[in-house]
Amino acid sequence: MTKPRKTPEELRSHRWYGVKDMRSFGHRSRTAQMGYHRSDYAGKPVIAIINTWSDINPCHSHFKQRAEEIKRGIWQAGGFPVEMPAMSLSEPFQKPTTMLYRNLLAMETEELLRSYPADGCVLMGGCDKTTPALLMGAISMNLPTIFMPGGTMLRGDYKGGYLGSGSDTWKYWAELRAGNITEQDWQEVEDGIARSPGHCMTMGTASTMTSAVEAMGLTLPGAASIPAPDSRHAQMATLTGKRIVEMVWEDLTLTDILTPAAFDNGVIAALSLSGSTNAIVHMVAMARRSGYPLNLDHYDELARRIPVLANIRPSGKYLMEDFYYAGGLRALLLQLGDLIDTTQMTVNGSTLGTNIAGAKVYNADVIRTRTTALVERDGLAVLRGNLAPDGAVIKPPAAEQELLIHTGRAVVFKDYNDMTARIDAPDLDVDANSVLVLQNAGPQGAPGMPEWGQLPIPKKLLEQGVRDMVRISDARMSGTSYGACVLHVAPEAWVGGPLALVQDGDLIELNVPERKLNLLISDAEFSVRRAAWVAPKPKFERGFGTIYLKHVSQADKGCDFDFLEPVADSPNTKKFVGGEPEIH
Ligand code: FES
Repeated sequence: MTKPRKTPEELRSHRWYGVKDMRSFGHRSRTAQMGYHRSDYAGKPVIAIINTWSDINPCHSHFKQRAEEIKRGIWQAGGFPVEMPAMSLSEPFQKPTTMLYRNLLAMETEELLRSYPADGCVLMGGCDKTTPALLMGAISMNLPTIFMPGGTMLRGDYKGGYLGSGSDTWKYWAELRAGNITEQDWQEVEDGIARSPGHCMTMGTASTMTSAVEAMGLTLPGAASIPAPDSRHAQMATLTGKRIVEMVWEDLTLTDILTPAAFDNGVIAALSLSGSTNAIVHMVAMARRSGYPLNLDHYDELARRIPVLANIRPSGKYLMEDFYYAGGLRALLLQLGDLIDTTQMTVNGSTLGTNIAGAKVYNADVIRTRTTALVERDGLAVLRGNLAPDGAVIKPPAAEQELLIHTGRAVVFKDYNDMTARIDAPDLDVDANSVLVLQNAGPQGAPGMPEWGQLPIPKKLLEQGVRDMVRISDARMSGTSYGACVLHVAPEAWVGGPLALVQDGDLIELNVPERKLNLLISDAEFSVRRAAWVAPKPKFERGFGTIYLKHVSQADKGCDFDFLEPVADSPNTKKFVGGEPEIH
């Protein structure tokens, strides 16, 4: 469906700059105050560049330069660029977790776009939650939008080998605790693991989400795989600036691109990359913002038939830099063949099929074919049972395979502090068959559902050589983590979910092939424990935290705020997305 091209008078910004009244006089005179002549902007699309640069976000440290490159493209294409800084969700620094603030950045993005004269926007993100946050906000405004992925950092370097973000932190931390490496070794890991701008270069949440978003048609073709320091990344930024101006004239908006099939393409890309379990929460949230009720069962249905083709850590061997040189996401999507819907429209005005046509695989060990897949199916599994009535997730390829069918005795930690205080205690009653359970680490309980789901292996078991155990929580896990970790248990313990009722010594049954997670106690015992459960007091009494606790949804619903989702079951999302109050 081709829409008529917009005229200058139909631009949203015309209401600020084009009309003849006192308020528009103010807009024009104040734009002149910034050194712009009216010929710089009159009749041109105003492009908001939402920049999540910050001095405390190393993943986005190149964004000042990239913003200038985007502006260069916008000027060249006849647009008027306006850079708007937005909250930077810096994964390594923000406590208790960036997830607590994902919805705040989403709100900020939406309100920036709504309250200023934006005709279209470029979203600059990459570090974990920035991608879904920016897009959730932009979806609710439904302007012409391109996402510019921040790009991955270069491979880490250590003693002649490569280090992967996160994954090798957990690995070498375990070796340090087990006494297998020295403090000097550990310091060398620290110095070499992050050595350039860009986001994590393992298949963590950042690369999972930027790749999913590319597969959904929201970036220029190939954009998500380019390493941040590569000059082709800068070129991509400029081309993004050029293209967004044309998108405004074409009136190609997000709801024209984000169909249910586009979301499926995003999910399928994430699965074929063996992407982060976090993606499931973000994809559900973004889909629900668009009015499409993507749910866990549909995700699981896709996971049952999508092969893992990317041989990237933590499930595989290589890093994102290798993936780029091997052909990148375009080559991987082409390998998926009829598993993806290539008819979907993308931001460059071509279909996904056109964009990936001709892509080549240059290293067949990094990007596999469907017949040489790393894992044939089940890159992710959704579990249900009396312990997780609304679902839980696990990433089977990242776990020791014999743990995928396991029954063991629970060792329960009532919260994160309890866990850190006791996990290494010599008298902790735990063995390799135990099931570690962490309660109250979910959306409300932590709060913010931090990445605490990869509970550390108790020190005494590490010393015995144990490197994986079944671990269960209502928390998330970093995409760079690994292990038999059951995550996102819903409802969470804090709101009285069954996870709150688990006690030391209870038997827990995990059966991934059958998608089961059960607490093996009688119904009568369940009832007794439920009756005795006391709701904890909210952890915030003021500020953003109170809004968060009051409105955040559970993990299976995407942890969005209830008041930000469009009306449920709407047959016409556009009716509810992009609505604007009267502008004076
Ligand atoms: Fe920013 Fe990993 S810390 S993506």
